[in-house]
Amino acid sequence: MKPWGGRFKGKTDPLLERFSASIDFDWALYKYDIAGSKAHAEMLEKIGILTATEKRKIVGALNEIQKEIEAGTFTFLHALEDIHMHIEARLIEKIGDAGKKLHTGRSRNDQVSLDMRLFLKEELGNIDSKLLEVLRSLVQKAEKEKKVIMPGYTHLQRAQAVPFSHYLMAYYQMFKRDRMRLEEALSRLDILPLGSGALAGSTIPLDREFVRKKLGFAGVSENSMDTVADRDFVLDSLYAAAVIMMHLSRFSEDLILFATEEFSFISLPDELCTGSSLMPHKKNPDALELIRGKASRVVGDLFSMFSLLKGLPLTYNRDLQEDKEPLFHAVRTVKDALSIMELCIKGMTLKKEQMQKASTISFMPAVEMAEYLTLKGMPFREAHEITGKIVRECEGKKKLLGDLSIKELKKHSTLFENDVFEYIDVNNALTKRKTKGAASFKEAVRQIDAEKIYLNL
Ligand code: ARG
Repeated sequence: MKPWGGRFKGKTDPLLERFSASIDFDWALYKYDIAGSKAHAEMLEKIGILTATEKRKIVGALNEIQKEIEAGTFTFLHALEDIHMHIEARLIEKIGDAGKKLHTGRSRNDQVSLDMRLFLKEELGNIDSKLLEVLRSLVQKAEKEKKVIMPGYTHLQRAQAVPFSHYLMAYYQMFKRDRMRLEEALSRLDILPLGSGALAGSTIPLDREFVRKKLGFAGVSENSMDTVADRDFVLDSLYAAAVIMMHLSRFSEDLILFATEEFSFISLPDELCTGSSLMPHKKNPDALELIRGKASRVVGDLFSMFSLLKGLPLTYNRDLQEDKEPLFHAVRTVKDALSIMELCIKGMTLKKEQMQKASTISFMPAVEMAEYLTLKGMPFREAHEITGKIVRECEGKKKLLGDLSIKELKKHSTLFENDVFEYIDVNNALTKRKTKGAASFKEAVRQIDAEKIYLNL
């Protein structure tokens, strides 16, 4: 009953049947496989291989098969290897000879490439919709909390105070770039592989352009050998997925830190945390930790695909079947992680006073102090040195920069005047920063306004 059984006398070892079966996971491609088969059948009718009746029978039976799979009444068997053979075998069972004509001019090698491309066209679109939701929630949160300030960090040491909205918009930029990566991956995979056959095309005058239009592809592949050997589009998609997970993981790490008692900048929503079986007081940020953890597996998915491909001779090799599990895993994980992050952005609450305190009780305005001296004509290196010495003096006296008197400051430089105190005030710094894209209230609002237009908000 195997479609390729003709050449064999011996029976396949049951161990190999189990080892080689992909049906446990590639059944998920059934929709695309059926859509591809319907288009192929219509084309076969157009070129005179199928009669109108045969085509009608095939399309009708394929529709029934789709319903059987969706109703859970379809029988899956390891002996039938993959989704392609399952559907074809059932088709022949249902309608006999007409079903046997469907595979004309087609191989599972171009068929599987088609299914994977159709799958990705839909799923990359789904990931993109979820990215859009994350972008929307970031802009809305940034706008709602546009007055809140926080320390910005380098080396995880307090560096310069920033608007919280500017911080959120940093992640916004990353996820916006992720949308572009998806779009690029999509544009490259939008090519019809069907018609390439096993590796060399066909002597049958298949109308590839007709099938392209039916299935909505932007183009038709140029080289049959490349087409059946190529999985670059899986790599592209996995790379885009891995970058999204890496971004989500960095964001998670920030939020986990900010939710600690030590930082106390935010509270995470209860719905995304769990308790401890032993310590009654614990509220653990499991959802975010799992995003961080699962990111490593998605990066692993990308690496699996690279090592799968690097040694393969042209053209199709069965190794390529191993592309599915990493891809399916990555797609599933990215979608879930994006949904969780969206809930987290919407649900987290800010501990504004603590954020304000961490931003003001700090030496962070040292930068503005050095810039103050620079604007009065002192070379920046000298201003840096002098401000450094002032910080050292403050540490000794257990004071902040703004606590020193003008007399104490003048001992370091006569350029200091009373207006320095206003200049190094944190809130003032956040309005004084002038460069485009700077961490200032004005620039944060500019970004929010521009992105609201981009998002139709
Ligand atoms: N299940 C196979 C895969 O996923 C389909 C192609 C099989 N082709 C073949 N020549 N055995 O790659």
